Amino acid sequence: MSDRDADPDATATGASSSGVATAQEFYSRWARVYDALATYGPGVSTLRERTAAALDLAPGDTVVEMGCGTGANFAYLRERVGSSGTVVGLDFSPGMLAVARERVAREGWANVHVARADATRPPVRGADAVVASFVSGMLADPAAAVDDWADLVGPGGHLALLDLARSTRPEARPLNALFHGLVLAGMPSKRPADLSAATELLDRRVVAAQNALRGRCDDATYSTHALGFARLGAGTVR
Ligand SMILES: C[S@@+](CC[C@H](N)C(=O)[O-])C[C@H]1O[C@@H](n2cnc3c(N)ncnc32)[C@H](O)[C@@H]1O
Repeated sequence: MSDRDADPDATATGASSSGVATAQEFYSRWARVYDALATYGPGVSTLRERTAAALDLAPGDTVVEMGCGTGANFAYLRERVGSSGTVVGLDFSPGMLAVARERVAREGWANVHVARADATRPPVRGADAVVASFVSGMLADPAAAVDDWADLVGPGGHLALLDLARSTRPEARPLNALFHGLVLAGMPSKRPADLSAATELLDRRVVAAQNALRGRCDDATYSTHALGFARLGAGTVR
C-alpha cells in the first residue's frame, strides 16, 4: 500500500454518483474548518483516545482508518502501533486528504500513509484492525461495509466504530433539536428531501453499522458518551 491515490474515481457502493460527488465537494471545501473542529472540538480528543484504545492495538500492528478525513485520529493510532507499526488512512475527498497529508508531513510520520479510495471498496488486503469514526452515517449500506471490514481484518482482527446519533438519554432529549440543526449544517446535500429525513437516516445507519459489528464479534462492547450523542462499538472478529 503506497500513499498514492488508490482509486481516484472512487464511488461508494450503493450511493448515487451525484451524491458521492456532492459529499466529496462538500468535505473538500470545508476541510480546514472541519479539521479545527475535529482536532480541538470539546471532548473530541477523549472520544478519539477511547476509540483508539478500544482497538486493542499492539506495537507493530497495521491499522486502517476508513474515511480518515483530515487525519485527526492518526496521532492516537500511531501512539498505539508505535514506529514499527503502520497507519493507513483512506478517504474519498481530495480536500480532506490534502489536510491529512499536511498533518503527516508536519509531524514527520514515516509510517502513516494516506490514499484516496472508497472505504466501501478498500484497496487493502489485510490489517490487524479497522477503525471508522463519524463515517457510518455517510454510507448507503453501512452494514455491508462493516461486514467487508470484518472480512478484511479476518478472525482475531479488531474493529471499532465511533459515530454521532440522536441521544436516547432522557436528560439529553431536549438537545436533540440542537443536534438535528448540527446534522443539517453538516449535510453535504441541501436538497429538501434529503434534509427532512437526515437525522432519522443518520440514526438508522449508525444502528445498522453497530449491529453489523456485533454480528461479527462475540466480545463486542458498546458504550455511549457525550450525553449519549456519541456511540462507540468495538470488538474482535470471530
Ligand atoms: C465526518 S468526516 C470524519 C473524518 C474522520 N474519520 C474523523 O474522525 O474526523 C467523514 C469522512 O468520511 C469520508 N467518506 C465518507 N464516505 C466515504 C467513502 N465511501 N469512502 C471514503 N471516504 C468516505 C468523507 O470524505 C469525510 O472525510
